[in-house]
Amino acid sequence: MSHNHPEIIDNLAVDDSSNNFYQNVMQKQMTRREVMAGVTAATAVVAGGPVLTACSDGTGNLVAPVPAVSSISKSLADRVVIPAGYTATTLYRLGDPTNANDAAGMAVPAYKNDGTDTDFANRAGDHFDALYYFGMSAAGTFELNNSARGLLCMNHEALTEFYLHQAGVNFGRGSGNKRLSAQVLKEVEAHGISVIEVARGTSGNGMSHVLAGTKNRRVTARTPMLISGPARGDARLRHKSYTANGGTFGDGINVQGTLNNCANGYTPWGTYLTCEENWAGYFFRNKSDQTRRDDIERYGIRTINPAGATQDAVGFQGLNWDTSDGNEDEFKRFDCTASGADAAADFRNVPNTFGYVVEIDPFNPAAPIKKRTALGRMGHEGAWPGKFVAGKPVVFYMGDDGRFEYIYKFVSTKAWNPADVGGGIAAGDSYMDSGKLYAAKFNADGSGTWLELAPGQNGLSAANGFGTQADISIVTRRAGDIAGATNMDRPEWAAVNQINGDVFFTLTNNSGRGNGAATELPEIYKGGQDIGVDAANPRVGNPNGQIIRMLETAGDNSALSFRWEITVFGARADDAARNVSLLTSVSDFSSPDGLWVDPRGLLWIQTDDGSSFTNGTGAAGSGSEALSNNQMLVTIPGEPGQTPVIKRFLVGPKGCEITGVDMTPDGKTMFVNIQHPGEVITGVDLTKPATFQSHWPGSSPTADAASGTARPRSATIVITKSDGGIIGM
Ligand code: FEO
Ligand code: CA
Ligand code: CA
Repeated sequence: MSHNHPEIIDNLAVDDSSNNFYQNVMQKQMTRREVMAGVTAATAVVAGGPVLTACSDGTGNLVAPVPAVSSISKSLADRVVIPAGYTATTLYRLGDPTNANDAAGMAVPAYKNDGTDTDFANRAGDHFDALYYFGMSAAGTFELNNSARGLLCMNHEALTEFYLHQAGVNFGRGSGNKRLSAQVLKEVEAHGISVIEVARGTSGNGMSHVLAGTKNRRVTARTPMLISGPARGDARLRHKSYTANGGTFGDGINVQGTLNNCANGYTPWGTYLTCEENWAGYFFRNKSDQTRRDDIERYGIRTINPAGATQDAVGFQGLNWDTSDGNEDEFKRFDCTASGADAAADFRNVPNTFGYVVEIDPFNPAAPIKKRTALGRMGHEGAWPGKFVAGKPVVFYMGDDGRFEYIYKFVSTKAWNPADVGGGIAAGDSYMDSGKLYAAKFNADGSGTWLELAPGQNGLSAANGFGTQADISIVTRRAGDIAGATNMDRPEWAAVNQINGDVFFTLTNNSGRGNGAATELPEIYKGGQDIGVDAANPRVGNPNGQIIRMLETAGDNSALSFRWEITVFGARADDAARNVSLLTSVSDFSSPDGLWVDPRGLLWIQTDDGSSFTNGTGAAGSGSEALSNNQMLVTIPGEPGQTPVIKRFLVGPKGCEITGVDMTPDGKTMFVNIQHPGEVITGVDLTKPATFQSHWPGSSPTADAASGTARPRSATIVITKSDGGIIGM
């Protein structure tokens, strides 16, 4: 997620005794014997490349293999830093034309980046997030192993709206205050997805955007799409009918747009999965609406605060689109107050049309876009597939990013049939609309259980509101509460090793853990008690996060039980009390977020930190000074119980978060998204560029942009090895 208001959260007490803190570091609960019995082996191979596997240290102990990367130093500069021997170029930036021409055939003008630009339906949106590369054939169809030409799909999660308008935004919500319709339109269209054709040139492994590509397009928060799966047509998704942007909405099936697209997923049938995370923050709810509604309140749209007082629920994104002076229903719908005679007379149910995994066929712009409600409704971070095994179900792992929220997985009813490769949305219909949804329970002994979320299972019944699978698809968080899933430290990305099925999750941080206050949503819903530490989340006020590994029984991603261990804890290297994974100055990090196991088994870790590591203001040497901008690291996890060796591979420019990574199938071209450089706008005067936190990306992503004058822009960069080799090898 983006941090418009970074919080410094590491000045809580470190509790390193009462919860066997150190003992939990590398749990070692998965013994070598279990490993040899076939739980896993972290052996990874790339076609034609070396084998990455554990090797002996000479004493009989296995040590994790080490990525062949020179670890770089931390950086606070306004540029991207990468290791020697690598090259980075800028591919696609906020506002860059997505298409050469708009739908009317008019050329899309170059981005002026002065706040006057319009038509984000044909330009890159803001806040670049997760991305995925699909190889494409000469005929324009999905071709898995094409490294020279493909479609790059990416999310535009949120906005630094200040820089989207000529004079910034200075709006205070109050009686009669309205936002300008043209600004709202721009902001709505700057959300969503980009699909862009990318191709190599005549030499080298660099890539550029093919502006004439016929698949180039934007999907935005205005694009018509469909509800699919158990919640399709449900009364809780129906609302006042309106028509906009080529669609008519309100029937619980036809819905408008996708919002706060954070992380992602992919399918072998050639579709892109984009996931709706902090959608609740776009809604306003007047305190006149006091009807208890778990379907929106458990997601944060509450008009009764934890102290019991009434208040307007004002979306934390602060965009107030519902106040548009144009009075368009498509913008008014972001006021979800129950104000009419019934749900057909107002927009109270519009929030229930968001919070899903959304499936898009990038190869077929005419195909319907579908919200797959069988995968549950939450603050979806992403949906990452398990191994695809013929005859076995298709599995997706999902994090719900909120303090104390849960880890989930979906297991399809239909068994994987390799004949469905390239089958598009029709294949998606056969896998994504029917299956079982589970939430994870982590036990203190290193075992774990998948709790099925279904009527009649794990305490869910009609008596407590869960008589149908639609109930579970719409109020998934509450189902997880009742089933007894483990409250996690903000589950962000998952990553699955497609060779052995190992699953990793980032748990980014949780300032509310054991802090003595019961102010987080799950705490409120589970009896109003502060939730303390547990084995999988063992740090009070966890400022720096951890990465957890789950090994499904018998290596089967559809298994109902697993073993788990913590792979690494984030920390400042100079924070002796918290640096229990013994990170060094060239491997320390905080708040892991983006995560990816590449096809060779290398684990890439990206950070979105709000602690002192990135945002500290203390004096040099105080232990609370900022150490580095956000970054990407790489490691090879090795086998369970091994301590991975972590290398720092990239540091971003000022004020950014690093999120989104993929490579071409040959491993020679890497794509990385740099989100919201210069996001801190406190004290910025748009007439004085020297006051901007960042001017990145400038002329080159690796050139220092500090002396520039441009407004900062999120962007995708392309990284290649200067000798033409495979990245990370
Ligand atoms: Fe959009 Fe949880 O990050
Ligand atoms: Ca994220
Ligand atoms: Ca708490």
